[in-house]
Amino acid sequence: METGEAIRTRRSVHEYADEELTRDEILSIFEDVRWSPSSYNLQPWEFVVVDDEEGQAELREAAYGQEHVTDAAAVAVAFGNLDRGAHAERVFRDQAEKGYRAEDRAEKLIEEMQDEPFEQNERWVIQSCTIAATTLMYAAWDRGVASCPMGGWDADSVCETLDVPETWHPVLMLTLGYPDEESDEWERERKMRRSPDEFVSFRDGGEE
Ligand SMILES: Cc1cc2nc3c(=O)[nH]c(=O)nc-3n(C[C@H](O)[C@H](O)[C@H](O)COP(=O)(O)O)c2cc1C
Repeated sequence: METGEAIRTRRSVHEYADEELTRDEILSIFEDVRWSPSSYNLQPWEFVVVDDEEGQAELREAAYGQEHVTDAAAVAVAFGNLDRGAHAERVFRDQAEKGYRAEDRAEKLIEEMQDEPFEQNERWVIQSCTIAATTLMYAAWDRGVASCPMGGWDADSVCETLDVPETWHPVLMLTLGYPDEESDEWERERKMRRSPDEFVSFRDGGEE
């Protein structure tokens, strides 16, 4: 699918076809997700995919009963790893080897990342993980797999259900699955969008 078409036709889907999403299909979507940009290229995302009935039922409970959590073929939860040092050695040595930065600077950055206090990194992980989750939605849609990004869930319950490390900050839940094209949802026009005139301003007031 052409990028513009993917952007314009993606929609949040709540009604899914009764069709499985194989693990190979899921992993092929994540092959695209891995190319998302991230701060320093540190790739602080950790995704947990739940594609079994029991797991999805637990997530649905944590998501205040939202039905599409169990109707979708799978649910991905994006977490941000608050430990900036987690992948720092590989990332900065790669950048030094490929000429993106000097070797001594790379070594210095590895040390700095390891000293960074976890509790100050929430905003930092949300930025990169949200971009990765966005790539996920479009990479999925490019393959005909619909999604719904979700913020309506209880963070403690999600972390407890998925038993993730304390250093993983929950960012976004996404349902994934082939859409039910027979559903009314598809017949509805896309929801309104504000126009760029309303949400873009130029600092100089827009003078040409
Ligand atoms: C941060 C965020 C949180 C959202 N939370 C939920 C949610 O909890 N449940 C849900 O059904 N949709 C949720 N949505 C989907 C929005 O309702 C949807 O993107 C919006 O209405 C625009 O519709 P569209 O995606 O079909 O264009 C969320 C979207 C975002 C970006």
